[in-house]
Amino acid sequence: MADESKEEERPEIRVERATDAARYLASDKLVWFDGVSDSDEIQLRGVPEDQRFAAEVVGSDVDPATYPGIYGVRPMQLSVPDGDGHGHAVPVAGLTWVGVHPDHRRRGLLTAMLKHHFEQTRREGVHLSALHASEPGIYGRHGYGLASLELEVEIGRGSTLTAPHLEAEAATITTRLGTVNDPGMSERRRRIDLDLTTTNVGTIVGDPEFYDLLSHVPAEETRDSEPPRILVAVRDGRDVGYVTFKRKHKWPNSRPAAEVEAGSLSGAPATRLALLRRVTDLDLSGKITVNGVAGSDPLLSWVQGPRALGDVKPFDSLWVRLVDIQEAVAARGYEADCDVVVEVSDESAPWNAGRWRIRVKDGTGEATRTDDAAEVSLPVAALGAAYLGGGNLAEMQRAGTIAEHRPGAARDLWRAFRTDLGPYAARGF
Ligand SMILES: CC(C)(COP(=O)(O)OP(=O)(O)OC[C@H]1O[C@@H](n2cnc3c(N)ncnc32)[C@H](O)[C@@H]1OP(=O)(O)O)[C@@H](O)C(=O)NCCC(=O)NCCS
Repeated sequence: MADESKEEERPEIRVERATDAARYLASDKLVWFDGVSDSDEIQLRGVPEDQRFAAEVVGSDVDPATYPGIYGVRPMQLSVPDGDGHGHAVPVAGLTWVGVHPDHRRRGLLTAMLKHHFEQTRREGVHLSALHASEPGIYGRHGYGLASLELEVEIGRGSTLTAPHLEAEAATITTRLGTVNDPGMSERRRRIDLDLTTTNVGTIVGDPEFYDLLSHVPAEETRDSEPPRILVAVRDGRDVGYVTFKRKHKWPNSRPAAEVEAGSLSGAPATRLALLRRVTDLDLSGKITVNGVAGSDPLLSWVQGPRALGDVKPFDSLWVRLVDIQEAVAARGYEADCDVVVEVSDESAPWNAGRWRIRVKDGTGEATRTDDAAEVSLPVAALGAAYLGGGNLAEMQRAGTIAEHRPGAARDLWRAFRTDLGPYAARGF
């Protein structure tokens, strides 16, 4: 009964292309209550015009300056496991700019926009959607699973980073200081990230416009601190990684203790080691915070465990959604075989719902329709969580968030989906 009255309140919602850029931008400003910036227009870079969408509420009083709901897609590439300890890049729809006008919230606009997004993404032949969530409770119900974790860690100046078997390689790397908006820097960063998709599973790479956005420094950002700096790691004349950082003056008791905030640490382990050593040894610095450290990052071994660090704060990194199960299962590689019948629930992308036989042989996976009895029942979000080799299906079964009907079936599935090395954290977008 309660559900019926809720249905009655739900208006008719139409989701279409958002053709009015000013209205789109104003909707975002309202939802995120941001102040005016000289770079408002620039924020739209990397969300192509044909990937900006809006929800209209039919027959309702609507503020003409804003849309009732908006979302946008950044065309991106995501590094997924290749089955051999490495990765390869596949296209992914980077969901962003999601917002609902406060007057229209909790009336089904987000639900309608996500349904539209999955249909649209599928039509375009893209099999995955991914996002960073503003709040953890929003996206699981729409089929997104938490696929990678990230940490914000505080590390003392001059901390010892011990990795005897990486020293020789780290010694071949030089690091050079620049500023994120130096000419050509956005292309260099993009090239490095693209290279890393073959080694660092979980890496996400946007189009060149998105990297232009990353290089833009709004005037207000430099009012009381320096512009974002970048250390680029070079080996044999080739860029192999980078870390960005900003310093803020601090002089307690006339002693230098500048705060350093670093992020976007990218590269192979020896590169990361060389970059971290530099960023933790900057003159006049005190507290150093590094964002976007993976949940299983080598950094935790180099400092000998989390207690060697100051504050360590865990966050969700990338949420992944299988838009098309059949295609997505075939798009990554696997490190072990399996043959498991899975009953998938998926309300927002009903073409995924039902029973699939997931079979992996010699690193190649396929999902085919079957009428055989289900051995595991799970929401599609569980497969998204496991997709990068991070979200543990056996632990989900133990925790009661997925069910198995044959003892050991969840473990069999997990052994195929898991990877020896956990995924890296994904940059914000
Ligand atoms: C998050 C947001 C987009 C939700 O939009 P909405 O149109 O109100 O969502 P819907 O009405 O479609 O809600 C769908 C379901 O999700 C639930 N839900 C929505 N927002 C939620 C939240 N923040 N936390 C937990 N559950 C939430 C609703 O209760 C609803 O559940 P029901 O179907 O059982 O009633 C909107 O609140 C918003 O714009 N927030 C500020 C910006 C933001 O956080 N954007 C997300 C960027 S990642």
